[in-house]
Amino acid sequence: MKKDFLAVSDYSADELNDLIDLAIDLKTEYFKHGNPPLLKGKVLGMIFNKPSLRTRISFDMAMRHLGGDALFISPNEIGLGKRESIADIARVLSGYVQGIMARVFEHDHVLELAKWSAVPVINGLSDYNHPCQAMADILTIKENYGKLQGLNVTFIGDGNNVAVSLMHICAKLGLNFAIANPEGYDISEKAVELAHKFTTTSKSQIKFYRDPHEAVIGADVIYTDTWTSMGQEEETQKREKVFPPYQVNQKLLSEANPEVIVLHCLPAHRGQEITDVVADGPHSRLFPQAHNRLHAQKAIVLQLMQG
Ligand code: CP
Ligand code: NVA
Repeated sequence: MKKDFLAVSDYSADELNDLIDLAIDLKTEYFKHGNPPLLKGKVLGMIFNKPSLRTRISFDMAMRHLGGDALFISPNEIGLGKRESIADIARVLSGYVQGIMARVFEHDHVLELAKWSAVPVINGLSDYNHPCQAMADILTIKENYGKLQGLNVTFIGDGNNVAVSLMHICAKLGLNFAIANPEGYDISEKAVELAHKFTTTSKSQIKFYRDPHEAVIGADVIYTDTWTSMGQEEETQKREKVFPPYQVNQKLLSEANPEVIVLHCLPAHRGQEITDVVADGPHSRLFPQAHNRLHAQKAIVLQLMQG
């Protein structure tokens, strides 16, 4: 197991499957009689350079359920890379806490933290990827279908951080991944190349579409996310003109497999990338998916911080 959790692409399929299975065990145990205090005395320092509901609260609660604690580190206070270098912050924090979770803009910042930190670093979202989200997504898919290999996952919308991690985890674990996105909003070539590399072992298929209606044919999972990610706010108006054909609505849903499930990392912009009817309808797994952040991350902190 690696020291850090920075990208699902850093992990082997076996390691990812083991983490998912650990999350399932921890979840079952939690609902039966609670988890044992395996992280007693351990503290996760949480750096947030962007806002959060799910990531912040689910990491905090994951630590508490395991007998540990979490510490919110205000961005204004530490001024990551501004008030003090990332290398110095990492080395100082390593003497205070037993793990660091960071949500950053530039992906290099979380890499730099990991490079200098003596304790595990977990990526809680960067402009490039969102690996903890992908773990909760796969957990939700596995709970729903009882399997992973051969399922068809279709992402509708921006080729963003969430899409990158989802594509990589699908490519690692043998799920087929398709994305439909407007021109100019493709997943980066570098991330696509990496995904193709993984498919030589997993036999996953990766497909790229402009037309969302074509992309959802045969889909077992439809996934969407905001049209404008954190940090891109000045592009909001431009994006609102380009993305409406990529809305996940009842019509699009009816073109997928009859048992299709709908996922969204949240926060949702209802009426934009997803309609209320779909988000609150029988195919939606949005809230179990959000709740699974807790269980997936419990497995991650336990794996990295125990011992
Ligand atoms: N999905 C997700 O990461 O949500 P938050 O931004 O609220 O943490
Ligand atoms: N793509 C979104 C995900 C939020 C959890 C963003 O980066 O804002």
